Amino acid sequence: MSMDFAPVIDAVRSTRPIIFDKALSSSVKMKGEADFVTEVDLRISEHLKQQLGALHPEIGFMSEEEEPGELARRRWILDPIDGTTNLVFGYNMSSVSLALVEDERPVFGVVYNPFADEVFCAEAGRGATLNGAPIAVVDRPVDGCLIEFGAGSTRKHEADEAFDVAKNVFKHCLDLRRICSSALAICFVACGRINGYFEKRLKPWDYAAACLILAEAGGQSSNWDGAPMQYAAPQSIVCGSPKAYAFLQEAVAAK
Ligand code: IPD
Ligand code: CA
Ligand code: CA
Repeated sequence: MSMDFAPVIDAVRSTRPIIFDKALSSSVKMKGEADFVTEVDLRISEHLKQQLGALHPEIGFMSEEEEPGELARRRWILDPIDGTTNLVFGYNMSSVSLALVEDERPVFGVVYNPFADEVFCAEAGRGATLNGAPIAVVDRPVDGCLIEFGAGSTRKHEADEAFDVAKNVFKHCLDLRRICSSALAICFVACGRINGYFEKRLKPWDYAAACLILAEAGGQSSNWDGAPMQYAAPQSIVCGSPKAYAFLQEAVAAK
C-alpha cells in the first residue's frame, strides 16, 4: 500500500508563518563567505524534523542544517530554505524542498513556494502537480527556450566555467534567468515557465525533490557527465525538457 503524503505536504505548508516572521528572517549568520543562514532556516529544519518524526519515526532525516550522519536507506532530504540569500534580501523567491529517498531513488518530492502559495509535488510513477493540477514540461525549440543557470556565490573561483557555458547557451536560446532557488528553478522547468537549468555543483537537498517532480512532468536530468543524479553527495546538474536537456548536455560537455 502506498504511503499517504497529505500530512507530509501539510507539514511542509505549516512552515509558512516561520518564513513570514521578519524577526526570524532578519536574524542572519554567515556560514562562510557569501553563505547566509537565518533563524528561519534553523527553525524550519527543527520544526519538520519534529513533525516528520512524529508522522514516520522509522524514516531517517537528512537536512542542510543538521550535522551529517549515517545515510539511512529510507530518508527525508530537506532543504529548509532553498534561496536563503533571496530571503535575506526580501526578494520573495525561496522554497522549502523535501524529498523521500528509498534505496537512493526519490519516491516523493514536494517543493513549496510560500510567497506564491504554490505546492509542486510528485510521487514516483504518479505524475507531477502544481497545487493539485497536473503539470508537464514544454518542449520548445532551443531558440525559444528560457534557461536558468546557477553559479554558487560561495564558489567565485569556478565562475569562468559557469559563465562561459552560460554565454554560449545565451547565444543559442531565447534568454537566461537567475531566480536562484535551484529547487524552484527545476520546478519551473517542470511546469514550462522555463525550459532548462544547469549548475556546476549542487547538494542533494537542492534537487532531490525537484528532480523527481521534473521527471514526472516529462523532463530529464543528469550530471554534467550524463550520469544519473545521485542523492548522497554533491553533484553537477543539467536538466530540461527533452530538447533543452539535449542542447544543455552538449553545452556542458563541451567544457
Ligand atoms: C542555493 C540555491 C541557489 C544555488 C546555490 C544553492 P541555498 O541554496 O539553490 O539557487 O545556486 O548553489 O546553494 O544556500 O539558498 O539553500
Ligand atoms: Ca539550497
Ligand atoms: Ca538552504
